[in-house]
Amino acid sequence: MDAIDIAVAEARRFIASLPTRPVGPRGDAATMLAHLPAALPVQGLPATDVVRRIAAAAQPGLMANAGGRFFAWVKGGALPASLATDMMLTGWDQNAVLAATSPAASVLESLAGTLLLEALNLPRDASFAFVTGCQMAHVTALAAARHAVLARVGWDVEAHGLFGAPKIRVLANAHRHGSVDRALRFLGMGTDCLVPLGGPVPGRVGPDALNAALAMAPDAPTIVVLNAGDLNLGESDDFSALVPIAHAGNAWVHVDGAFGLWLAASPRLRPLVAGIEAADSWATDGHKWLNTPYDCGIAMTRDPVAHRAAMTLAASYLTAGGDLRDSMDWTPEWSRRARGITVLAALLELGRDGLADLIERCCDHALAIHDGIAALPGATGIARPIINQGMVRFHDRGGANITDAVIAATNAGGEAFFSGTLWQGERTMRISVCGWQTDAGDVARAVAAVGAALAGLY
Ligand SMILES: Cc1ncc(COP(=O)(O)O)c(C=O)c1O
Repeated sequence: MDAIDIAVAEARRFIASLPTRPVGPRGDAATMLAHLPAALPVQGLPATDVVRRIAAAAQPGLMANAGGRFFAWVKGGALPASLATDMMLTGWDQNAVLAATSPAASVLESLAGTLLLEALNLPRDASFAFVTGCQMAHVTALAAARHAVLARVGWDVEAHGLFGAPKIRVLANAHRHGSVDRALRFLGMGTDCLVPLGGPVPGRVGPDALNAALAMAPDAPTIVVLNAGDLNLGESDDFSALVPIAHAGNAWVHVDGAFGLWLAASPRLRPLVAGIEAADSWATDGHKWLNTPYDCGIAMTRDPVAHRAAMTLAASYLTAGGDLRDSMDWTPEWSRRARGITVLAALLELGRDGLADLIERCCDHALAIHDGIAALPGATGIARPIINQGMVRFHDRGGANITDAVIAATNAGGEAFFSGTLWQGERTMRISVCGWQTDAGDVARAVAAVGAALAGLY
């Protein structure tokens, strides 16, 4: 066997073990590092030996989030076609920066973007960029937003930067993800520009709050950041009401749809994000609900001119793609992996109906897990899933919060894996279902595993 055979065999062995291996990792750093030299070897090792050693080292530290019983954070698995395509992509070793460096990457990523806009029901002429994750999708889309709102007041941010520029306000859902704040830091706007917005419905921006915030500084360059699927409640903003208000105030509307944007792919769930297509930019992930391998985020904008202006660069030694797309015009990276091809593979494997079914069944499973756990003695449902996210909490007979202990005991058991959060000042367990592998059997096993952990502590 050569090194590639060994790597493929290892990947296969891991995937085959998912139904039976403990979901959580089992090893400490010393166990892992025992397989590898601690110092740089003077002479290199044979490739086969390197791959075998790395595989052995990683084994006890691998998280089985690719399987059906991982419900922590927001993680999908990797669909077979997407995973296999990713492996091929690694073998091809293409630099997808320009059409000139890889026409295949350019053509296939272009098709991926076109099919993606169709799948998500977004404007077919929107621009898109395949980046490392939703974090960088925010950076990309908010750079386009920054360009557009400053151009409206006559300021060229690409040439002059932000020194001396009119100050931008960012009116954002108070339940936004921290990656929005970090994107604003990276873009030189700083978190002080943020104005958090709430409303009568937890997790959602109220139209009155948005109207009032816009009226505070009607002439200021303004970006509004809304949520499709917040992390804890799964709530989405009322785009049909809010986007027209923001646009009337001359603001750019950016949507964090890291996972919630995929609701638009389901006829049953689409009403939850009605009006989202009217926003100016959207950030999402392939590696969450679409179930591509890591790392795969996507930025899309309704303003290709602003998007391109924020990202593009011409240099004398670069060859422009002509009719073909140069990803350098759209992404913050220079050299890059053609990760968009894994999106293409996932979309083709699922098709329109398969994608809708994936999104819908994850929501159904989240509900079943929540309701199954909430019915256990000592458990309380805190947020019944509207989509694929929910929360529960555990108390002992004396009323003490034992949530962290229940999570730890469940995860130690290996049958399922959950994570905790602080919700309204109390420790709470999150339920997140994103993986294509999760089925009714996994749901039953997960509820039973939590029940067993709770019974020992209640
Ligand atoms: C709502 C939301 N936005 C953004 C992110 C950041 O995404 P990524 O980890 O792909 O950069 C996450 C990650 O969990 C998220 O849940």
